[in-house]
Amino acid sequence: GCRRVCYEREWDGTMDLIEKLAERARERKMRVAMPEATDERTLRAARKAVDTGVALPLLVGDEKQIRAAAQKIGVPIHDIAIVDPFHHPSLERFHEEYAQLRRKENLTPEQIRDVFKHLAYFSVMMARFGLCDAVTMGAVYTTADVMRAAIKVGGVAEGVKTVSASVLITGLNPKFGETGAMLMADPAVVIDPDAGQLADIAIATADTAIDIFGFEPRIAMLSFSTKGSAKHPLQQKVVDATETVKARRPELLIDGELQSDAALDAAIGRSKAPGSPVCGRPNILIYPDIGSANIGHKLLRVMCGADVFGPILQGLAIPCSDMSRGANAHDVYVNIILTALKARRRTL
Ligand SMILES: CC(C)(COP(=O)(O)OP(=O)(O)OC[C@H]1O[C@@H](n2cnc3c(N)ncnc32)[C@H](O)[C@@H]1OP(=O)(O)O)[C@@H](O)C(=O)NCCC(=O)NCCS
Repeated sequence: GCRRVCYEREWDGTMDLIEKLAERARERKMRVAMPEATDERTLRAARKAVDTGVALPLLVGDEKQIRAAAQKIGVPIHDIAIVDPFHHPSLERFHEEYAQLRRKENLTPEQIRDVFKHLAYFSVMMARFGLCDAVTMGAVYTTADVMRAAIKVGGVAEGVKTVSASVLITGLNPKFGETGAMLMADPAVVIDPDAGQLADIAIATADTAIDIFGFEPRIAMLSFSTKGSAKHPLQQKVVDATETVKARRPELLIDGELQSDAALDAAIGRSKAPGSPVCGRPNILIYPDIGSANIGHKLLRVMCGADVFGPILQGLAIPCSDMSRGANAHDVYVNIILTALKARRRTL
């Protein structure tokens, strides 16, 4: 397999982002389970994924209902696989595996059957058993349902303990990040990370940069202080998280704690953090908590017209998407591409 330090392609910023990601996804097609398969947006997105060749969607659900839903909206699905979760030959093994994974819950067979009525659990279990590579969902299910199934069946990725989210911000001044694109985390999942969780968020965001976008991570760990200019437990948390990332992933370019001006402006960075490997050129900003991350990226969107892409779930052993329930068919299609790309490293 490819080592983590081998980045697949230079980010040139010239091609339309989605088309560029689609091209990467087409290079090695992943099997993506889609459990919200009677939903119109899901069906249209699956159709488009087949037509553009970005993935092999597997529609999970009652075949009759799925075919009826597709017929009603005039979407042909004759060439898309349908997986029946109610009479599947591995269903019993899935139940046994779930009982084992969640043994501390001491579930009765009936309770387990109830859990699997939610097709998110069945779909993530398919990936666990190698029957698909990723799961695209969240257009119908809530974030909490997606997260629970993804965490309880798939677990966390090797090397992290925390599931988190990042957003890709595009349309910034091209001198920032990768021609105006940057990843920022975590605006959506981990409310008040401790130093270890903050390190996990930074590592998982670096992996999102590598897996999905193919760019070399350069991480700025943001704070209200630069290199000890202030002393406070909230500043020390960022210092500790930075040291943890350096110890766990020595190949990653990271620096902290940094104020945002020192991180983003090379001249200020030179005076406040001389010799920094990241100042003046980060492409990942890690905020100290969910509040600053959420506020920070929304300021860019509202006041500067930047585009926001995500939230992208990260740190999961089995790639699962989440999205707004207000998503349209195109958003679901984009999420198929993202989860497919995230799955590629697992299958190397
Ligand atoms: C998972 C989640 C959905 C809550 O789950 P819950 O049903 O309240 O149950 P718990 O808190 O007991 O979590 C269930 C399991 O997931 C684990 N878990 C929860 N959040 C986690 C995270 N971020 N990373 C890793 N594991 C996590 C818990 O440790 C627990 O594991 P265990 O049962 O093996 O001990 C929680 O992360 C959450 O509510 N996140 C916010 C998501 C959200 O709604 N965001 C809205 C804006 S996008």
